[in-house]
Amino acid sequence: MEGQEEGKTSNIESEVLEKIRPTKLQIRVLGLFIKTIKDKINECMRTRRIDAIVEEEGSYAKGTLLRDKWEVDLFVLFRNTSDDWISLHSKDLLTECLKNLPYLIKYSQHPYITVSFMGLEADIVPALYIEKPRKKGLGVERTPFHTKYINYKLEEYQKDEVRLLKSFLKGIGIYGAESYIAGFSGYLSELLILYYGNFINTIYNISRWRKGIVIDIEGNGDYKKLKRKYKNSTIIVVDPVDPERNVAASVSEKSYYYALLASKLYIRKPSKYYFHIYSANKKVSLGLPSIIIRCKGRYFDRPPQDIRGRLKRIAESFESYLKQYNYNLLRSSFYFDDLENIYLGFLFEDTNKPKTEVMLGPKIEKCDADSAANFIKKRLNENGFIFTNGDSLKGISPRKKDNAVSLINKLVKEQKGLFPKETEECNVVLVSDPENVMLREDVKKWIVDSLYSMPAWIIDI
Ligand code: UTP
Ligand code: MN
Ligand code: MN
Repeated sequence: MEGQEEGKTSNIESEVLEKIRPTKLQIRVLGLFIKTIKDKINECMRTRRIDAIVEEEGSYAKGTLLRDKWEVDLFVLFRNTSDDWISLHSKDLLTECLKNLPYLIKYSQHPYITVSFMGLEADIVPALYIEKPRKKGLGVERTPFHTKYINYKLEEYQKDEVRLLKSFLKGIGIYGAESYIAGFSGYLSELLILYYGNFINTIYNISRWRKGIVIDIEGNGDYKKLKRKYKNSTIIVVDPVDPERNVAASVSEKSYYYALLASKLYIRKPSKYYFHIYSANKKVSLGLPSIIIRCKGRYFDRPPQDIRGRLKRIAESFESYLKQYNYNLLRSSFYFDDLENIYLGFLFEDTNKPKTEVMLGPKIEKCDADSAANFIKKRLNENGFIFTNGDSLKGISPRKKDNAVSLINKLVKEQKGLFPKETEECNVVLVSDPENVMLREDVKKWIVDSLYSMPAWIIDI
């Protein structure tokens, strides 16, 4: 068998690890950044006599951070108060405490704050201090318990194994629970390493996953209940700190299959192209046309993940319209430049509609004469064409001349409500050669990478 023995680290993995382990400088800089913010918040709470503590969470606190990640997560845990108080006052309180720092207000289940400063980022999440996760509590409450659980369970050497897995998932584009990625979260990566022991064994097992499997590290999950609650999930990973929750709920079917394919191919032949620092694209030149929608607006005031989530939904909706109108759509993609431009892209076999539509008529042996006659009449009435095809009647209907550019233009107008409300104007461009299009370099790169390319890992076989 070509490939790797289970459990053995290859040269590729050690080479990758040398490049993804955080540097001492990075940890020191992030530590100082945390201290600055912590001091500010603590001081602010003291002067206001509010009982709260600031706690480090996420990959920085768990030692599973990647080298190119300059982001930390801080939770402000309020004691002796209520959910209502937090949802009413914590946002204003925290922005007041941090008013001298550049920040952005974001939303998941409730508002939180991102301080973004010279390439450093801190997510600051307010939550209620609790002794243990409540049944109907907010999602954020579990985070401090996740941190404690992972820190208690994960062996030192496994932190590198988590890094490899995160880098692999990132490299193939399915790392992140955000809706526009619908992939594997950091916590899920950590749990998989806990369960399977190390990176290569995790990949080996993923390659053999079957839909519907349940991973239950602590053996405390109620499978029947979980299957009912998460009936659309491809896999269930029981949250050890809250056994009624599926940590893999964010993993879409597409991401699930992508993980399986990449794992199978990696086991067959490992390559560094799977890991995010080496990921690359190989362009294909089949001369296929694409259509790009570009819209302008003041999108920078909104959390970028909201904008991207929105773009993903528009792409899916347009995709289903295009297919319904019989266009042979091959792929779609979206792009946000984090400022004031959003883009959607669609790759076609042909942007013109096929001239005719083929329809299979009734079976000659079984049908009665009226239904055969009806089928023939219909085709004749529309100036069609009729003949037999072995055992059945076959008809050809002419189609109205139409093309995808006009349909997309129409959809953009009709579906205005789908676009972020900041959208000021949109235009639609037909692209026949992505290298020769009058768009910015970053936009061209997105078009080539996401519509006209294959990832290097998929062809290095
Ligand atoms: P992250 O997405 O930052 O993941 O969320 P991570 O584990 O630190 O991994 P990387 O290295 O950054 O990719 C950290 C924790 O904070 C919680 C998440 O659920 C996760 O457990 N979190 C974050 C919230 O609960 N709410 C938020 O709004 C943001
Ligand atoms: Mn993080
Ligand atoms: Mn974060």
